[in-house]
Amino acid sequence: MTASPILTLSDLEKTFTTGFLGALPGFRRLPWQVRGIVQTVHAVRGISLTVEPGETFGFLGPNGAGKTTTIKMLMGLIRPSKGSATLLGKPLNDRAARARIGYLPEQPYFYEHLKPMEFLDFYGGLFPMTVRERRDRARALLDRVGLSHALDRPIRKFSKGMVQRIGIAQALINAPELVVLDEPMSGLDPLGRKEIRDLIFELKHQGRTVFFSSHILQDVEQICDRVAILVRGEVKRTGPINTLLEDGDGGVEVLVAGLPAETAARLGSGVSLREGHRYVVASVEVDAFLRAALEVGGSIRSVTPQRRSLEAIFVEEAQRA
Ligand SMILES: Nc1ncnc2c1ncn2[C@@H]1O[C@H](COP(=O)(O)OP(=O)(O)O)[C@@H](O)[C@H]1O
Ligand SMILES: [Mg+2]
Repeated sequence: MTASPILTLSDLEKTFTTGFLGALPGFRRLPWQVRGIVQTVHAVRGISLTVEPGETFGFLGPNGAGKTTTIKMLMGLIRPSKGSATLLGKPLNDRAARARIGYLPEQPYFYEHLKPMEFLDFYGGLFPMTVRERRDRARALLDRVGLSHALDRPIRKFSKGMVQRIGIAQALINAPELVVLDEPMSGLDPLGRKEIRDLIFELKHQGRTVFFSSHILQDVEQICDRVAILVRGEVKRTGPINTLLEDGDGGVEVLVAGLPAETAARLGSGVSLREGHRYVVASVEVDAFLRAALEVGGSIRSVTPQRRSLEAIFVEEAQRA
Protein backbone atom coordinates (compact mmCIF):
# COMPACT_ATOMS: atom_id res chain seq x y z
CA MET A 1 0.00 0.00 0.00
CA THR A 2 1.10 3.51 -0.72
CA ALA A 3 1.91 5.89 2.11
CA SER A 4 -0.49 8.81 2.40
CA PRO A 5 -2.31 10.31 0.56
CA ILE A 6 -3.56 8.13 -2.26
CA LEU A 7 -5.31 10.89 -4.13
CA THR A 8 -4.77 14.64 -4.09
CA LEU A 9 -6.53 17.35 -6.05
CA SER A 10 -5.05 20.84 -5.94
CA ASP A 11 -7.10 23.67 -7.28
CA LEU A 12 -8.37 21.49 -10.09
CA GLU A 13 -10.44 23.35 -12.65
CA LYS A 14 -12.27 22.59 -15.86
CA THR A 15 -13.89 25.08 -18.15
CA PHE A 16 -15.63 23.84 -21.26
CA THR A 17 -16.06 26.07 -24.25
CA THR A 18 -18.93 24.92 -26.37
CA GLY A 19 -19.59 25.60 -30.01
CA PHE A 20 -17.44 25.36 -33.07
CA LEU A 21 -15.26 28.44 -32.44
CA GLY A 22 -14.44 27.39 -28.90
CA ALA A 23 -12.43 24.53 -30.28
CA LEU A 24 -10.07 26.79 -32.25
CA PRO A 25 -6.57 26.99 -30.77
CA GLY A 26 -6.45 30.79 -31.19
CA PHE A 27 -9.88 31.26 -29.64
CA ARG A 28 -8.72 33.58 -26.87
CA ARG A 29 -7.20 36.02 -29.37
CA LEU A 30 -10.46 36.43 -31.29
CA PRO A 31 -12.32 39.76 -30.88
CA TRP A 32 -14.84 39.70 -28.05
CA GLN A 33 -17.79 40.12 -30.43
CA VAL A 34 -16.87 36.77 -31.91
CA ARG A 35 -16.00 35.17 -28.62
CA GLY A 36 -19.36 36.30 -27.30
CA ILE A 37 -21.22 33.70 -29.31
CA VAL A 38 -19.26 30.95 -27.65
CA GLN A 39 -20.47 29.68 -24.31
CA THR A 40 -18.17 28.72 -21.52
CA VAL A 41 -19.18 26.34 -18.75
CA HIS A 42 -17.19 26.42 -15.53
CA ALA A 43 -17.85 22.82 -14.66
CA VAL A 44 -15.19 22.53 -11.93
CA ARG A 45 -13.98 25.66 -10.16
CA GLY A 46 -10.83 24.91 -8.23
CA ILE A 47 -11.28 21.76 -6.19
CA SER A 48 -8.71 20.79 -3.56
CA LEU A 49 -8.97 17.64 -1.49
CA THR A 50 -7.04 14.59 -0.41
CA VAL A 51 -8.03 10.98 0.08
CA GLU A 52 -6.05 8.75 2.42
CA PRO A 53 -5.31 5.07 1.82
CA GLY A 54 -8.07 2.77 2.98
CA GLU A 55 -10.73 5.45 3.05
CA THR A 56 -14.14 5.16 1.48
CA PHE A 57 -14.70 8.66 0.22
CA GLY A 58 -18.03 9.94 -1.08
CA PHE A 59 -17.93 12.64 -3.70
CA LEU A 60 -21.40 14.08 -3.48
CA GLY A 61 -23.37 16.69 -5.29
CA PRO A 62 -26.55 17.30 -7.25
CA ASN A 63 -26.70 16.61 -10.95
CA GLY A 64 -24.46 18.94 -12.89
CA ALA A 65 -22.25 19.73 -9.88
CA GLY A 66 -19.10 18.62 -11.70
CA LYS A 67 -18.53 15.14 -10.25
CA THR A 68 -18.14 13.30 -13.54
CA THR A 69 -15.97 16.08 -14.97
CA THR A 70 -13.65 15.83 -11.96
CA ILE A 71 -13.46 12.06 -12.20
CA LYS A 72 -12.76 12.21 -15.92
CA MET A 73 -9.85 14.54 -15.24
CA LEU A 74 -8.51 12.13 -12.64
CA MET A 75 -8.83 9.25 -15.07
CA GLY A 76 -6.94 11.15 -17.76
CA LEU A 77 -9.95 11.27 -20.10
CA ILE A 78 -10.05 15.06 -20.23
CA ARG A 79 -7.40 17.60 -19.38
CA PRO A 80 -7.72 20.00 -16.47
CA SER A 81 -7.92 23.67 -17.47
CA LYS A 82 -5.93 24.51 -14.37
CA GLY A 83 -4.55 22.91 -11.25
CA SER A 84 -3.11 19.48 -10.70
CA ALA A 85 -3.77 16.13 -9.10
CA THR A 86 -1.83 13.06 -8.04
CA LEU A 87 -2.89 9.42 -7.99
CA LEU A 88 -0.94 7.08 -5.70
CA GLY A 89 1.60 9.83 -5.27
CA LYS A 90 2.23 10.18 -9.01
CA PRO A 91 1.12 12.79 -11.56
CA LEU A 92 -2.02 12.06 -13.58
CA ASN A 93 -0.24 10.76 -16.65
CA ASP A 94 1.81 8.15 -14.79
CA ARG A 95 1.11 4.79 -16.40
CA ALA A 96 2.36 2.61 -13.59
CA ALA A 97 0.05 4.38 -11.14
CA ARG A 98 -2.86 4.09 -13.56
CA ALA A 99 -2.41 0.32 -13.71
CA ARG A 100 -3.15 0.18 -9.97
CA ILE A 101 -6.48 1.98 -10.31
CA GLY A 102 -9.90 0.61 -11.19
CA TYR A 103 -12.57 2.79 -12.76
CA LEU A 104 -16.28 2.45 -13.39
CA PRO A 105 -17.57 5.24 -15.68
CA GLU A 106 -20.97 6.80 -15.14
CA GLN A 107 -22.30 5.61 -18.45
CA PRO A 108 -20.13 2.70 -19.32
CA TYR A 109 -20.03 1.65 -22.91
CA PHE A 110 -19.45 -2.04 -23.04
CA TYR A 111 -19.12 -4.25 -26.08
CA GLU A 112 -22.56 -5.62 -25.68
CA HIS A 113 -22.17 -8.71 -27.78
CA LEU A 114 -19.53 -10.05 -25.37
CA LYS A 115 -20.37 -12.57 -22.69
CA PRO A 116 -19.13 -11.92 -19.15
CA MET A 117 -15.95 -14.02 -19.34
CA GLU A 118 -14.96 -12.62 -22.75
CA PHE A 119 -15.64 -9.14 -21.51
CA LEU A 120 -13.49 -9.44 -18.39
CA ASP A 121 -10.82 -11.25 -20.34
CA PHE A 122 -10.67 -8.28 -22.70
CA TYR A 123 -10.17 -5.80 -19.83
CA GLY A 124 -7.79 -8.11 -18.01
CA GLY A 125 -5.69 -8.18 -21.17
CA LEU A 126 -4.92 -4.50 -20.66
CA PHE A 127 -2.92 -5.37 -17.54
CA PRO A 128 0.19 -7.45 -17.04
CA MET A 129 -1.32 -10.81 -16.06
CA THR A 130 -0.95 -14.30 -17.42
CA VAL A 131 -3.93 -15.76 -19.28
CA ARG A 132 -4.43 -18.14 -16.38
CA GLU A 133 -4.42 -15.36 -13.78
CA ARG A 134 -6.83 -13.35 -15.85
CA ARG A 135 -9.30 -16.22 -16.19
CA ASP A 136 -9.11 -17.14 -12.54
CA ARG A 137 -9.64 -13.60 -11.44
CA ALA A 138 -12.50 -13.08 -13.89
CA ARG A 139 -14.22 -16.21 -12.65
CA ALA A 140 -13.81 -15.23 -9.00
CA LEU A 141 -15.10 -11.71 -9.65
CA LEU A 142 -18.14 -12.90 -11.59
CA ASP A 143 -18.91 -15.17 -8.72
CA ARG A 144 -18.50 -12.33 -6.24
CA VAL A 145 -20.79 -9.94 -8.13
CA GLY A 146 -23.38 -12.68 -8.52
CA LEU A 147 -23.19 -13.19 -12.28
CA SER A 148 -22.03 -16.78 -12.40
CA HIS A 149 -25.48 -17.80 -13.55
CA ALA A 150 -25.28 -15.52 -16.60
CA LEU A 151 -22.06 -16.72 -18.21
CA ASP A 152 -23.80 -17.62 -21.47
CA ARG A 153 -25.67 -14.37 -21.83
CA PRO A 154 -24.33 -11.46 -23.87
CA ILE A 155 -24.19 -8.18 -21.95
CA ARG A 156 -26.90 -6.61 -24.08
CA LYS A 157 -29.37 -8.95 -22.40
CA PHE A 158 -28.32 -7.82 -18.92
CA SER A 159 -30.54 -5.79 -16.62
CA LYS A 160 -29.30 -2.40 -15.39
CA GLY A 161 -28.21 -3.93 -12.09
CA MET A 162 -26.30 -6.69 -13.87
CA VAL A 163 -24.55 -4.17 -16.11
CA GLN A 164 -23.52 -2.18 -13.07
CA ARG A 165 -22.20 -5.29 -11.37
CA ILE A 166 -20.18 -6.44 -14.34
CA GLY A 167 -18.89 -2.89 -14.57
CA ILE A 168 -17.62 -3.18 -11.03
CA ALA A 169 -16.07 -6.55 -11.79
CA GLN A 170 -14.31 -4.86 -14.71
CA ALA A 171 -13.05 -2.11 -12.40
CA LEU A 172 -11.57 -4.76 -10.09
CA ILE A 173 -9.93 -7.03 -12.64
CA ASN A 174 -6.47 -5.59 -11.93
CA ALA A 175 -6.87 -5.88 -8.12
CA PRO A 176 -6.61 -2.08 -7.84
CA GLU A 177 -5.49 -0.21 -4.74
CA LEU A 178 -7.74 2.69 -5.62
CA VAL A 179 -11.22 2.11 -7.02
CA VAL A 180 -13.01 5.07 -8.60
CA LEU A 181 -16.73 4.61 -9.20
CA ASP A 182 -18.87 7.25 -10.87
CA GLU A 183 -22.47 6.94 -9.58
CA PRO A 184 -22.31 3.20 -8.98
CA MET A 185 -25.81 3.11 -7.49
CA SER A 186 -27.73 5.33 -9.83
CA GLY A 187 -30.64 3.77 -11.62
CA LEU A 188 -30.74 0.74 -9.33
CA ASP A 189 -33.59 -0.49 -7.17
CA PRO A 190 -33.10 -0.74 -3.37
CA LEU A 191 -31.87 -4.30 -3.59
CA GLY A 192 -29.43 -3.46 -6.35
CA ARG A 193 -28.14 -0.51 -4.34
CA LYS A 194 -27.62 -2.70 -1.32
CA GLU A 195 -25.59 -5.14 -3.38
CA ILE A 196 -23.32 -2.34 -4.52
CA ARG A 197 -23.01 -1.00 -0.97
CA ASP A 198 -22.01 -4.46 0.24
CA LEU A 199 -19.42 -4.67 -2.49
CA ILE A 200 -17.97 -1.31 -1.52
CA PHE A 201 -17.86 -2.43 2.11
CA GLU A 202 -15.99 -5.50 1.11
CA LEU A 203 -13.44 -3.47 -0.85
CA LYS A 204 -12.89 -1.39 2.25
CA HIS A 205 -12.30 -4.51 4.33
CA GLN A 206 -9.77 -5.66 1.77
CA GLY A 207 -7.88 -2.43 2.47
CA ARG A 208 -8.67 -0.77 -0.84
CA THR A 209 -9.43 2.90 -1.17
CA VAL A 210 -12.76 3.72 -2.76
CA PHE A 211 -13.60 7.12 -4.23
CA PHE A 212 -17.13 7.22 -5.54
CA SER A 213 -19.57 9.86 -6.63
CA SER A 214 -23.24 9.83 -5.79
CA HIS A 215 -26.35 11.93 -5.53
CA ILE A 216 -28.17 9.21 -3.58
CA LEU A 217 -27.60 10.17 0.01
CA GLN A 218 -29.05 7.30 2.01
CA ASP A 219 -26.49 5.02 0.47
CA VAL A 220 -23.64 7.32 1.28
CA GLU A 221 -24.37 7.82 4.97
CA GLN A 222 -24.00 4.13 5.54
CA ILE A 223 -20.70 3.45 3.84
CA CYS A 224 -18.50 6.54 3.68
CA ASP A 225 -15.73 7.52 6.06
CA ARG A 226 -15.51 10.98 4.61
CA VAL A 227 -17.40 13.00 2.06
CA ALA A 228 -17.03 16.17 0.04
CA ILE A 229 -20.13 18.04 -1.03
CA LEU A 230 -19.79 19.62 -4.42
CA VAL A 231 -22.18 22.32 -5.62
CA ARG A 232 -21.77 24.08 -8.94
CA GLY A 233 -18.18 23.04 -9.32
CA GLU A 234 -17.04 23.97 -5.83
CA VAL A 235 -16.47 21.90 -2.71
CA LYS A 236 -18.77 23.39 -0.09
CA ARG A 237 -18.16 20.97 2.76
CA THR A 238 -15.74 18.22 3.42
CA GLY A 239 -15.15 16.03 6.44
CA PRO A 240 -15.86 12.80 8.24
CA ILE A 241 -19.46 11.89 7.77
CA ASN A 242 -20.15 11.77 11.50
CA THR A 243 -18.72 15.21 12.13
CA LEU A 244 -20.76 16.67 9.29
CA LEU A 245 -23.94 15.16 10.59
CA GLU A 246 -23.36 16.28 14.17
CA ASP A 247 -21.98 19.65 13.19
CA GLY A 248 -24.04 22.76 13.68
CA ASP A 249 -26.79 23.07 16.25
CA GLY A 250 -29.42 20.51 15.48
CA GLY A 251 -30.10 20.68 19.23
CA VAL A 252 -30.43 17.90 21.75
CA GLU A 253 -33.52 15.84 22.30
CA VAL A 254 -34.33 15.34 25.97
CA LEU A 255 -36.94 12.92 27.16
CA VAL A 256 -38.31 14.04 30.53
CA ALA A 257 -41.18 12.46 32.36
CA GLY A 258 -43.32 14.22 34.94
CA LEU A 259 -42.97 17.71 33.60
CA PRO A 260 -46.02 19.82 32.64
CA ALA A 261 -45.51 21.43 29.21
CA GLU A 262 -46.05 24.98 30.56
CA THR A 263 -43.28 24.49 33.11
CA ALA A 264 -40.83 23.14 30.53
CA ALA A 265 -41.33 26.10 28.21
CA ARG A 266 -40.22 28.37 31.03
CA LEU A 267 -36.97 26.44 31.51
CA GLY A 268 -35.13 28.07 28.61
CA SER A 269 -35.60 30.14 25.48
CA GLY A 270 -34.34 27.42 23.17
CA VAL A 271 -36.71 24.73 24.40
CA SER A 272 -39.53 23.33 22.34
CA LEU A 273 -41.86 20.45 22.97
CA ARG A 274 -41.75 17.92 20.21
CA GLU A 275 -44.34 15.38 21.31
CA GLY A 276 -45.24 13.60 24.52
CA HIS A 277 -42.34 14.14 26.86
CA ARG A 278 -39.77 14.89 24.20
CA TYR A 279 -38.16 18.30 24.24
CA VAL A 280 -35.68 19.73 21.79
CA VAL A 281 -33.18 21.97 23.54
CA ALA A 282 -30.46 24.15 22.02
CA SER A 283 -27.08 22.55 22.76
CA VAL A 284 -25.83 25.53 24.83
CA GLU A 285 -28.86 25.30 27.11
CA VAL A 286 -28.83 21.59 27.81
CA ASP A 287 -27.06 21.69 31.18
CA ALA A 288 -29.31 24.43 32.50
CA PHE A 289 -32.42 22.69 31.17
CA LEU A 290 -31.53 19.39 32.81
CA ARG A 291 -30.81 21.02 36.16
CA ALA A 292 -34.03 23.03 36.10
CA ALA A 293 -36.09 20.05 34.94
CA LEU A 294 -34.82 17.95 37.84
CA GLU A 295 -35.49 20.78 40.26
CA VAL A 296 -39.17 21.00 39.33
CA GLY A 297 -39.61 17.28 39.77
CA GLY A 298 -39.00 16.00 36.23
CA SER A 299 -37.28 12.68 35.61
CA ILE A 300 -34.68 12.53 32.81
CA ARG A 301 -35.11 9.47 30.61
CA SER A 302 -32.71 10.19 27.76
CA VAL A 303 -30.52 12.89 26.24
CA THR A 304 -29.76 12.48 22.53
CA PRO A 305 -27.86 14.88 20.25
CA GLN A 306 -29.87 15.42 17.08
CA ARG A 307 -28.08 14.27 13.97
CA ARG A 308 -28.78 16.23 10.90
CA SER A 309 -29.36 14.26 7.78
CA LEU A 310 -26.94 14.48 4.94
CA GLU A 311 -29.92 15.46 2.87
CA ALA A 312 -30.51 18.55 5.00
CA ILE A 313 -26.89 19.66 4.57
CA PHE A 314 -27.06 18.97 0.89
CA VAL A 315 -30.22 21.01 0.38
CA GLU A 316 -28.86 23.83 2.52
CA GLU A 317 -25.68 24.08 0.45
CA ALA A 318 -27.52 23.84 -2.86
CA GLN A 319 -29.92 26.60 -1.84
CA ARG A 320 -27.12 28.84 -0.61
CA ALA A 321 -25.42 28.47 -4.00
N1 LIG B 1 -18.11 18.08 -22.64
C1 LIG B 1 -18.81 19.06 -22.08
N2 LIG B 1 -19.02 20.23 -22.71
C2 LIG B 1 -19.70 21.24 -22.15
N3 LIG B 1 -20.22 21.19 -20.91
C3 LIG B 1 -20.05 20.07 -20.20
C4 LIG B 1 -19.33 18.93 -20.75
N4 LIG B 1 -19.31 17.95 -19.81
C5 LIG B 1 -19.99 18.45 -18.74
N5 LIG B 1 -20.42 19.69 -18.97
C6 LIG B 1 -21.16 20.56 -18.04
O1 LIG B 1 -20.42 20.63 -16.84
C7 LIG B 1 -21.28 20.64 -15.71
C8 LIG B 1 -20.91 19.50 -14.77
O2 LIG B 1 -21.27 18.27 -15.36
P1 LIG B 1 -20.92 16.86 -14.71
O3 LIG B 1 -19.49 16.84 -14.34
O4 LIG B 1 -21.40 15.82 -15.64
O5 LIG B 1 -21.80 16.89 -13.38
P2 LIG B 1 -22.26 15.71 -12.41
O6 LIG B 1 -21.47 14.50 -12.76
O7 LIG B 1 -21.97 16.23 -11.05
O8 LIG B 1 -23.72 15.52 -12.63
C9 LIG B 1 -22.69 20.57 -16.25
O9 LIG B 1 -23.18 21.87 -16.34
C10 LIG B 1 -22.50 19.96 -17.62
O10 LIG B 1 -23.52 20.37 -18.49
MG1 LIG C 1 -22.11 12.61 -13.24
